[in-house]
Amino acid sequence: MRKLIIAANWKMNKGPQETESFITEFNNLLQSETDQVDVVISPSFISLPKAQELLADTAVGLSAQDVSDQDSGAYTGEVSVSMLKEVGVEYVILGHSERRTLYGDTDAFINSKLKKTLEAGLIPIFCIGETLEERESGKLESVLETQIKGGLAGIVAADLSELVIAYEPVWAIGTGVTATSQQAQDTHVIVRRLLAEQIGQELSDKVRIQYGGSVKPDNAKELFSQPDIDGALVGGASLQPDSFYALAEIGANL
Ligand code: PGA
Repeated sequence: MRKLIIAANWKMNKGPQETESFITEFNNLLQSETDQVDVVISPSFISLPKAQELLADTAVGLSAQDVSDQDSGAYTGEVSVSMLKEVGVEYVILGHSERRTLYGDTDAFINSKLKKTLEAGLIPIFCIGETLEERESGKLESVLETQIKGGLAGIVAADLSELVIAYEPVWAIGTGVTATSQQAQDTHVIVRRLLAEQIGQELSDKVRIQYGGSVKPDNAKELFSQPDIDGALVGGASLQPDSFYALAEIGANL
């Protein structure tokens, strides 16, 4: 049985003050949901220390939204894995479609960040997904295959036991349009098969594959009930404590 993992991706929202108000309220709502589901919050870099302070006594995990592929030195604007570890980060989102399209993250660049993340003992939340045009022109599987092969190139399967994949169709991110639970389930099956070709069936069966793209309290139950959907990466609905808590609650009560 794969434990569901429900992760907030706050993107460029919430400085330390708003992080404090969110987590204070969220902690008050949270009961024993983290016994059933993994709950993770990904604030911006600058809000990580505040989040760590407030999550220290909880089972909620802390994630960064990206990381450098370098250890230290003359890389202006970058943040290293050791800096993330110093502030208690456990997960790193890599290859988000906004990084790919707006900041030019290529499969090769994501691959080198992924290697750095694993070497540091952090857990990657590795994002993949197709555009609407790619889906409609029959390229879904080849796009996912290129992203998976490129992102995981040269990494030995044994190092990927904790890997989390976030399948996020680009056309569903922030648009209010969710993939139907059947569309998502069918694509997760493809992702798991492609992953098995890369790292073997046994390990692939253990990897948690989140769905991302307009996940909200009113569509979460149907999505989480699909056999190959192991949680969600959530943007918009993770910005309010009550809606993010509702997702954790739905996951815990399945
Ligand atoms: P959304 O974002 O939930 O606002 O669609 C998801 C994501 O980008 O991870």
